[in-house]
Amino acid sequence: MKFQATFAIVASYVVAALASTVADVETDVQTISTQTTALDNAINAFPNTGGSLVSALAIHNDAVSLGSAIDQGTSDVSGAPQPFSETDGSAILTAVQGFEPTILDALTAIVTKKPAFQALPIGGIPALVLQDLQNLNTSAFNFEAALIAAAPADLVPTATSVKAAVDAAFATAIAAYS
Ligand SMILES: *[C@@H]1O[C@H](CO)[C@@H](O)[C@H](O)[C@H]1NC(C)=O
Repeated sequence: MKFQATFAIVASYVVAALASTVADVETDVQTISTQTTALDNAINAFPNTGGSLVSALAIHNDAVSLGSAIDQGTSDVSGAPQPFSETDGSAILTAVQGFEPTILDALTAIVTKKPAFQALPIGGIPALVLQDLQNLNTSAFNFEAALIAAAPADLVPTATSVKAAVDAAFATAIAAYS
């Protein structure tokens, strides 16, 4: 009995991990968009001189939250029926393109703020930023790849160009901190 109950619980987790819907993906994209805006605002609000450690750590927390949101999106895209229909694929791609400029801005702004992070009285923040950028890059890379894999054929070129732009922006930001 105990074994059967355990098995049933494990089986239900497996089903939950595999089954997601396009609606889940749309919700995820909305969450990613909100978290991207929060991160971008926090980076831009960090003063060029006299910034605080608390504000720098808030940026780190925003980056971690965004990474989790993106990873959830990747998981739900992978678990959703594929390819997406034309309507769903277009809606999702349009939503992703909606926050693309915000992530690009965040990646430009984080480079601009490097001297401000270096000037903090406690060292190690630029190294933390680099780690966050590398983690976010991996998350974004996997999410974009999942979206391309799920896209209807005619949307693949657009999805691929979004991925190229975001990947390039991450490469620039990571290089600046490496
Ligand atoms: C971003 O992540 C991908 C996947 O892990 C990796 O192949 C790529 O080299 C990373 N880019 C940078 C600039 O580190």
